[in-house]
Amino acid sequence: MSPFDVSRTLPENATGAALRADVLHGLTATPKTLPPKWFYDARGSELFERITELPEYYPTRAEREILRTRGGEIAAAAGARTLVELGSGSSEKTRHLLDALTGVEVYLPVDVSESALTGAGRALVAERPGLRVHALIADFTASLTLPGTPGPRLVAFLGGTVGNLLPAERAVFLASVRALLSPGDALLLGTDLVKDEGVLVRAYDDTAGVTAAFNKNVLLVVNRELGADFDPDAFDHVALWDAEREWIEMRLRSRTAQTVKLPALDLAVDFAAGEELRTEVSAKFREDGVRGELAAAGLDLAHWWTDREGRFALSLSVAR
Ligand code: SAH
Ligand code: TRP
Repeated sequence: MSPFDVSRTLPENATGAALRADVLHGLTATPKTLPPKWFYDARGSELFERITELPEYYPTRAEREILRTRGGEIAAAAGARTLVELGSGSSEKTRHLLDALTGVEVYLPVDVSESALTGAGRALVAERPGLRVHALIADFTASLTLPGTPGPRLVAFLGGTVGNLLPAERAVFLASVRALLSPGDALLLGTDLVKDEGVLVRAYDDTAGVTAAFNKNVLLVVNRELGADFDPDAFDHVALWDAEREWIEMRLRSRTAQTVKLPALDLAVDFAAGEELRTEVSAKFREDGVRGELAAAGLDLAHWWTDREGRFALSLSVAR
């Protein structure tokens, strides 16, 4: 096996079929929705990297601080020889983890973004002779099969991406992660924490407009893949805090009454002036909630680390 290879768990055209099904379902529902995984084409992945560098977007810096300061403890608790990372993106923060996890021989990044995976994989094998990188283009919400690699296994799911799943989806997802593990294997989970509303909203509505461009990118993906005629300028980016459900909700609000055509679906979709399309939720967590959700999936919380300001948490839980 070469030090870096890429495989896909789905045939190439399955992505198109899944996108069509999601868009048809989401745009004919009330209220209208689109699932967040479609943000991440090459441009979306680039825009997300710019989000991680914004002054308002604290989660990346907070999580990096924890990875840097707790690397030794993570390594000691996990003792891993294989590191699996779900939604790995650029694998930027993973470098700190790999620095600490000296026993890791194989790194398996899993992402829907082929451009992010190949960029990250090539850079990592160039930097780290001796590390095998096997990238998997796959949807982590679908059933995952991983290649056989040496145990113990550590699954990392960083960035607070678990908060982009709805509570019911999260329960299914965590159970499927547990199924990838043998007893004693571990999950390292990044969760953004409940905090002041202003801080949260600014993290998802920056003054430079990068998050707005990222949110609207999903419309460009649908235009390109399904021949639709969304005009991104005809929508406003909206980020709001739902205090009851404790999540940030991202929406796109139609500026005017308009009809969007989607020839590949033989569909025309009417938007009323001010009508909103929900593109993503980003749930914020508390320690007890995380412990409970993990326990329900057969994972026992063993460590809970936060950054100095208490904004973001990394938990390490162990498969029962
Ligand atoms: N882990 C990185 C990136 C987080 S952004 C960080 O912490 O900065 C979320 C990442 O998950 C993106 O790279 C996106 O392409 C990927 N992603 C989103 N939904 C996915 C899905 N359903 N299956 C696989 N990857 C997904
Ligand atoms: N996982 C990231 C988060 O919830 C994804 C994200 C950051 C995002 N900013 C966004 C998604 C803006 C949509 C719009 O923090």
